[in-house]
Amino acid sequence: MEKRKLRMAMIGIGVGGAEILPAMDVMDEIDLVAGCDINPVTRERFVERYKGAKAYATVEELCKDPNVEAVWISTPNQFHAPHTIIAANHGKHVVVEKPMALNLQEAEAMVAAAEKNNIKLLAGHTRSFTPPIQAMRKVITSGRLGKLCAINLFAYTDWMLRPRSPQELDPNQGGGVPYRQAPHQVDTVRLLGGGKVRSVRGMTGQWMPERPIPGYYTAYIEFEDGTPANITHNGYGYYIGAQMVAWGEDKHQYDAQGRVDIRKAIRAGKRDEEAEKQDRRIGGKLEQIVFRRSEPEPWVPEDLGMTIVSCERGDIRHSKHGIFIHDDEGVHDIDLGLATKELGPSLRRDELEEFYEGLVFGKPLYHDGRWGLATLEVCLAIMQSGKERKEIMLKHQVGINPAYDAYINERIEF
Ligand SMILES: NC(=O)c1ccc[n+]([C@@H]2O[C@H](COP(=O)([O-])OP(=O)(O)OC[C@H]3O[C@@H](n4cnc5c(N)ncnc54)[C@H](O)[C@@H]3O)[C@@H](O)[C@H]2O)c1
Repeated sequence: MEKRKLRMAMIGIGVGGAEILPAMDVMDEIDLVAGCDINPVTRERFVERYKGAKAYATVEELCKDPNVEAVWISTPNQFHAPHTIIAANHGKHVVVEKPMALNLQEAEAMVAAAEKNNIKLLAGHTRSFTPPIQAMRKVITSGRLGKLCAINLFAYTDWMLRPRSPQELDPNQGGGVPYRQAPHQVDTVRLLGGGKVRSVRGMTGQWMPERPIPGYYTAYIEFEDGTPANITHNGYGYYIGAQMVAWGEDKHQYDAQGRVDIRKAIRAGKRDEEAEKQDRRIGGKLEQIVFRRSEPEPWVPEDLGMTIVSCERGDIRHSKHGIFIHDDEGVHDIDLGLATKELGPSLRRDELEEFYEGLVFGKPLYHDGRWGLATLEVCLAIMQSGKERKEIMLKHQVGINPAYDAYINERIEF
C-alpha cells in the first residue's frame, strides 16, 4: 500500500497535546487538519500556528468534520472514555492518552464502540513505545541472555510539583501518579514480560496535605509464568531520578532550588497553577523550552524511571542514546542513533507510527484497546490492593500480539 497523508485532529490541546504536536510536525505522513479545545486562547494559538487547520470548541463539532480521519485525544482523564466513544461513533480512528479511562467499565465501552464502528483504537502509553524499550524486548526475545527473570523500574520525579488544574487534584477524576504515571511503567513492564499479569500487590501514598492526590505508589507484579516485576514512582520531587545515571543532572522540569521555591509556594497557597499550565500549552512561553528542545538530550530516568531487566545471563538498561547490555563478556553500549533521529520530544513518534501503519498499511495495532484495558486493570489493581491490603488477581490480561516481535526487529537494528 502507498504512503499517504493521514488527516488527524488533536482533541484537548493542553500540556500533553503540546508534547505530541512536535512529533506530528516532523512526520510528513501526518496532516494536522483540526483541533478542539474549550479554551478560546488555545484555539486562537492553534490556528495561528497551523494555518488552514480548523479549530472547534466541542468534540461533537469536530467529529462532524468529514475531513478528519483520526483523532488524538488528550483531554483530561475523565473525558477519555466519552470522547473516544463520540469519535468512534462518528467513524474516526482514535489514539487515546493514558490513563485509558477511569475504570474498567468505561474501557470496555470504548473497546465495544471501536469494534462496533470498525475503527482503530490505540492506547497511547508513550514510554513503552520508545526505541530503548523495544530494543530491550528484542534482546529478551533473542534469547542471548537466557530466560527473562525479573524487571525493576524506579522513578523519582517532580511530578507533584508541576502545575495542576483543579480536576487533576481530584482523585475521583483520575488525579495522582497511580492513574497518571503507573500506565507508563505498567505498560512497559507488560510489554517486556509478554503481557499477561497474574496478580498485583500494591500500595499508594499521599503525603502532602496541600496536594490531595497520591504522589507515590509501589507494586509487586507477578506474571502468569511467575516472573516478578517491581515498579515504584515517587513524584514528590525531593530526590530526582536523573541523578541515578552518571550523566544525569539534578533536574527534570525544575532544578533543586526551583523545587524548593515551588514547594514553598504550594504550601503558602501562592501559586497561579492555571497560568503556569497555560505557559506550557501551545504558544505559551515555556512550551518551546519544555517540549521543543532543538538539541537531542541523552536519556535520563525521568517519568518512566530507571529500568533494569534481569535475565539468566545478564542485565539490560538504558544508556545515553540506546541500551547497555551487561553480560558474561562485559558491558555493551548499543547506540540506537536516537540523537540523530527526529523522534519528537520524549520520543513520541513511535506511537504515531504504529497508529499510521495500522491505518494506512493495514498492520495490526499492538497497543490496541484490549491491550490498553489490561494495562488499566493493573493500575486499578495497585490502588485496590493498597486500600484492601491484599493481593489482587487479574482477569482481563492479554498477551502481546505475536507479530510485534517481527515489527520491532525490523525497526530496531543492532
Ligand atoms: N503521554 C504523556 O506523556 C502525557 C503527558 C502529559 C499529559 N498526558 C495526558 O493528557 C491528558 C491531559 O493532561 P494535560 O496535562 O495536557 O492537561 P491540560 O489541562 O493541559 O490539557 C487538557 C486540555 O483539554 C482541554 N479540555 C478540557 N475539557 C475539554 C473538553 N470537554 N473538550 C475539549 N477540550 C477540553 C483543556 O482546555 C486543555 O487545553 C491527561 O489525560 C494526561 O494523562 C499525557
